[in-house]
Amino acid sequence: MHPLEERFPEVHFHNPALTEVQENVLIGPGTRVGSMTLIHHGAVIGANSTIGSHCNICDCSIGDRVAVQTACHITRGVVVESDVFIGPGVMTLNDKLTGEAMAYPRICRGAKVGGGSVILPGVTIGEKAVVGAGSVVTRDVPPGKTAVGNPARVIAGASAGLQP
Ligand SMILES: CC(C)(COP(=O)(O)OP(=O)(O)OC[C@H]1O[C@@H](n2cnc3c(N)ncnc32)[C@H](O)[C@@H]1OP(=O)(O)O)[C@@H](O)C(=O)NCCC(=O)NCCS
Repeated sequence: MHPLEERFPEVHFHNPALTEVQENVLIGPGTRVGSMTLIHHGAVIGANSTIGSHCNICDCSIGDRVAVQTACHITRGVVVESDVFIGPGVMTLNDKLTGEAMAYPRICRGAKVGGGSVILPGVTIGEKAVVGAGSVVTRDVPPGKTAVGNPARVIAGASAGLQP
């Protein structure tokens, strides 16, 4: 048995030899982790979630039943609440480049973030909000609203049909 499987007997690692989980990490039962993923010291990941392959998961908090698809970068201090869907290639950011003004995005319960989106420091994506693919989110997205584009703006009438 691989040492990762001994440390986390209730977690499924797609290929534990190709996954790094640093010390002081919590991962809930039933969670699945893909290959070539690095989970940093201090990360907390809930139960029945999926962390895809080629992800970089920093010292952040991820809830239960969350899907983080392939090639996401989730920065330190980010909070991802339960039942969130994060599409492939999403990047969160936490530093406005000064090194002195850290601000941590929050993605609230049931929100869905389309693939390739960038979530800027300090932005909150409200409960059950949707972010369209390829968006650059510079401001908070209100609960239940759909925002798209660069910079992301709330659009009316979208069906918010992004499927988990
Ligand atoms: C945001 C989204 C859910 C909206 O879907 P929808 O409710 O069917 O909305 P529509 O396709 O009717 O688009 C509504 C308007 O928003 C625009 N729009 C939709 N998605 C957009 C996006 N990602 N970026 C910029 N504009 C977008 C459309 O062009 C349309 O504008 P128009 O009225 O001027 O023609 C969808 O477009 C999207 O981006 N899904 C993400 C897919 C994804 O990342 N999946 C991950 C798993 S593979």
